[in-house]
Amino acid sequence: MAKSKTKCIGVLTSGGDCPGLNAAIRGVVKAAVGTYGIKCIGIQDGFRGLVENRTIALDNPAVSGILTAGGTILGTSRDKPHKMPMGGKILDMTRTAVENAKRMQIDCLVCLGGAGTQKNAMRLNEAGLNVLTLPKTIDNDVVGTDITFGFDTALGIATEAIDRLHTTATSHQRAIVVEIMGHNAGWLALGAGIAGGADVILLPEIAYDPQRVAAHLMERSRAGKRFSIIAVAEGAMSIAEHKAHVIVEAKRKQEKKSAKKANLALSVADLIDHDRADAPTKTIRIKRDGEAMEITYHTVQEPKASRIARQIQELTGMEARVTTLGHVQRGGTPSAADRLLCTNLGATAARLLAEGHYNVMVGLKGDICVPVPLKQVAGYIKTVPTDHQWINNGRLVGTCFGD
Ligand code: F6P
Repeated sequence: MAKSKTKCIGVLTSGGDCPGLNAAIRGVVKAAVGTYGIKCIGIQDGFRGLVENRTIALDNPAVSGILTAGGTILGTSRDKPHKMPMGGKILDMTRTAVENAKRMQIDCLVCLGGAGTQKNAMRLNEAGLNVLTLPKTIDNDVVGTDITFGFDTALGIATEAIDRLHTTATSHQRAIVVEIMGHNAGWLALGAGIAGGADVILLPEIAYDPQRVAAHLMERSRAGKRFSIIAVAEGAMSIAEHKAHVIVEAKRKQEKKSAKKANLALSVADLIDHDRADAPTKTIRIKRDGEAMEITYHTVQEPKASRIARQIQELTGMEARVTTLGHVQRGGTPSAADRLLCTNLGATAARLLAEGHYNVMVGLKGDICVPVPLKQVAGYIKTVPTDHQWINNGRLVGTCFGD
């Protein structure tokens, strides 16, 4: 057994799930237990499991056979330790989380998650807990790494969907609007749009002009093309929507600031996960097993794609259809590239833990997994630069970005 400065770790998955989480858990645990003799405790359902002391043993048998399995054997949630709904109230459970980890004799908490998770892990670190994170999300919007795990698999799923939509769109001479996940960053819509040969790609980073989109589609139709595919990121906004969004955001920030100043209780808006920042929430009171409780959730929204499809129909008279890929993009077995990435990130994490290297995210730079100080990652999000080569080269091959 190789020497290890770390004796015991907790492992949790937090935020939206994605293919590759199990492969990454396996990478960490196999190397940690098998090579370094580190005890691994699995924490269920993200940070909530840490607060509620819900754990499972993570030994070799527990991670055997999970490399190819989608989802996460640990379960996940979007709960944040410092704003956790507990019995109808929103409470700061940071202290409890740290105390529970210490009581379990966890030397370092390993958090697998996206941009929100990096922030939450940082907060726990500031409260006295050693942490180490891995970058997970189909959105690919975590800074400090060239790529996040889950992205490659989702890219394959979304690209295949666009391929399939091409054939049916051609048969019927239709414009098909396909909605791809990504509220704040358009990496997935951009990547799948380019790889699938979408004719129009609309991203959160580039406000679109409906007239421009319509003109592009009409031009294609005049050139004898029987179909058009419009790939739309969830967070894509028209120029008018973008203007309204800027005003609403400024107001929301101002209100939050004033509430904080006046020391008001946390509001529902404070609960919003940054992945879902533009999705309205609703709080309802229900009775479950005879117990009254308050539940806050993101309301189901009309897909952006429907609005865009309507605009296209109105402006061009073309027959339009909508396909929302939704959570299909997050399901199923990880791609070979994601399995490789997860195994490399997970095993590197175990090696760093054995060396006593904490408070870093393990990212991929070129071909190498490297520790990146968590301070440089937490609180940031990697959107698509509007001069990114995928956009520039997309333009060169005739893709319309709506601007
Ligand atoms: O954070 C990843 C992500 O898949 C986003 O692209 C998407 O907007 C969001 O999660 C959906 O989250 P939920 O699973 O809560 O509906």
